[in-house]
Amino acid sequence: MPAIPATLIPGDGIGPEVMEAAVAVVEATGVEFDWDRQEAGMDAFEETGDPLPQATIDSIERTRLAYKGPLTTPVGTGFRSINVKIRQLFDLYANVRPCETLPNTKGPFENVDLVLYRENTEGLYAGIEYFDEKNQIADSIARHTRTGCERIIKFAFKDAQLRGRKRLTLVHKANILKQTGGMFLSIGRQIAEENPGIEFDDRIVDNMAMQLVIHPEDYDSIVTTNLFGDILSDLMSGLVGGLGVTGSANIGDDCAVFEAVHGSAPDIAGKGIANPTAVIRSGEMMLKYLGKDAAAEAIRKALHDVYSDPAGLTADLGGTATTAEFGARVADRVRAHIAA
Ligand code: NAI
Ligand code: MG
Repeated sequence: MPAIPATLIPGDGIGPEVMEAAVAVVEATGVEFDWDRQEAGMDAFEETGDPLPQATIDSIERTRLAYKGPLTTPVGTGFRSINVKIRQLFDLYANVRPCETLPNTKGPFENVDLVLYRENTEGLYAGIEYFDEKNQIADSIARHTRTGCERIIKFAFKDAQLRGRKRLTLVHKANILKQTGGMFLSIGRQIAEENPGIEFDDRIVDNMAMQLVIHPEDYDSIVTTNLFGDILSDLMSGLVGGLGVTGSANIGDDCAVFEAVHGSAPDIAGKGIANPTAVIRSGEMMLKYLGKDAAAEAIRKALHDVYSDPAGLTADLGGTATTAEFGARVADRVRAHIAA
């Protein structure tokens, strides 16, 4: 089998640390990648003046597949999010965020098993923002298109079916946001009629936030708009041990970028203690996307093995392992499962 061309973006903050561990785990499956290592984010900005260099864009243009670490976005001022820009540039409209309890994690629930589909290119993240200096008025406009709503909801139904899910809950705020939320909900109801194999219902987002922290076991899969998906997926990470453990995929019709839900964690960067599970899980999703099911399954099993020993976990989960030690343990278990 020829090596699979893929763009590798280590990212900034804890990015390079967790990505080094995660790439070793992905490679332990025996699936060969031809990595094209590219810069983006704060480090690229400081070196080249451009947080998303043309060489990085060209690389993803060619490989149509990227494995990336988190990228810092300045808050309030400065350049716009490179993560959002990559998703928009390559039309990666579906952000898939599974959330499953691993053994010995500190979450309040034992068997959370959810998947969230977040619309990834429009809504309040469309970048339509104005500031009226004279009158001190700030506008951020949510834009929803019929095409955008249809494709994420259809994707969610299809992917939920592939994952053997029984139910899809559409999350919205159509009571207040009658245009944007109303359109998303009515399109969802139409598409549900074409997908009788999956039970469909809807919830208003604030109620959903409360429901998820009281009885997440009542839910199965969720489809929602960009901002609500961003917030609810961090909340869901909190149900299963925090941001260190949840991976994500940004998927378009012919291109995909795999990354963690978390950011660059500047508070712990450079210490070698970050949890690489989130980026390892996104590597598992990448292998599945590529049809390498046995390799993805070996990673899933290896994580369950390593999580069975609480001392072997990283500090965010109360263990004492460094990023590198944890990664090496997972890679060893992956090799054992592949050999078995
Ligand atoms: P964050 O996700 O970086 O960190 C939030 C908290 O979770 C911190 O206390 C951090 O230490 C902890 N945490 C995150 N990942 C962890 C890991 N792997 N292991 C252990 N602990 C972990 O969110 P924050 O602080 O809001 O954002 C920092 C920067 O990251 C910002 O510039 C933000 O824009 C950017 N960001 C980038 C994303 C991406 O590249 N896709 C996604 C989210 C934020
Ligand atoms: Mg986020």
